[in-house]
Amino acid sequence: MRLDKFVCKSTQLTKDEAIARIHCGDVLVNQSVVTNESTQVHENNAILLNGFQLTPRDFRYIMLNKPAATICSNIDEVYPSLFNLLDIDHVSELHIAGRLDADTTGMVLITDDGRWSFNITRPTCHCAKVYQVTLSKAITDDAAIQIKSGIKLQGEDKLTLPANLVVINSKEVLLTITEGKFHQVKRMFSAVGNRVVSLHRVAIGEVSLDIDVGQWRYLTAPEIESFIK
Ligand code: URA
Repeated sequence: MRLDKFVCKSTQLTKDEAIARIHCGDVLVNQSVVTNESTQVHENNAILLNGFQLTPRDFRYIMLNKPAATICSNIDEVYPSLFNLLDIDHVSELHIAGRLDADTTGMVLITDDGRWSFNITRPTCHCAKVYQVTLSKAITDDAAIQIKSGIKLQGEDKLTLPANLVVINSKEVLLTITEGKFHQVKRMFSAVGNRVVSLHRVAIGEVSLDIDVGQWRYLTAPEIESFIK
C-alpha cells in the first residue's frame, strides 16, 4: 500500500495532512526518512510518525442491501451515495466491490481491502452473481436457451459466458452470471427482445443477502474467506 494511505489508515489524519507530514520528514520507514508519499510499504515494515509506531486499522468487510435511487459512488450525484447509509468512521476509505445501477437493489459488498475486492471483481475470477429479474414480457423458451448458452450483446465481440437461469414465473427469473459487463443483465434481456423492469441482486459467490433493504452488516470470517481463492 502507498505510504500516505498507510499513514491515513493508522491515524486520524486526512490524506493531505498525511502527505504534509511525509514531506516534512516526520515519517520513518525501516529507520530511514521517506518523503515520497507514493512509496509502497508493507505492514511488516516498521513505520514511525514522530517516533510513534503506526499500526493500520483492521480491514472492514460489509454487506449492504442497496435501496433503489441510491448510487454506488463515494459522493452524492443525481441520487445520494449509498455510503450515506453507513454510520461508521472513515467511510471515505471504503469502496464497492461490484457496482449496481441506481435503479438496481440488493446486495453490495463494501470494503477498504483492495486486494480482497479485486478477487471479486477481476474478470478472470468469474465470481457468480445472482439476480432476481422482473421482465416486461413473458420469457420465451428460445430466449431462455440463448441466455443460458451465451448471447451477443450490442457493442461486444464475444458472447456472454454461459449463465444459469431459473424461471420463477413467466415474467420473473433468477439469473446467475459470472461476468460483470456494464449493465450486463439489462443488455442480456434487451438482446432477446425483452426489458428488465426491476433488478435485485440476491447473492455474490457463496454469500446470500439476508438483511432488509437499507440495512448493512459486517461479513463473518467464513464469508470473507469464501472470496479468497
Ligand atoms: N446488470 C445490470 O444491468 N445492472 C446492474 O445493476 C447489475 C447488473
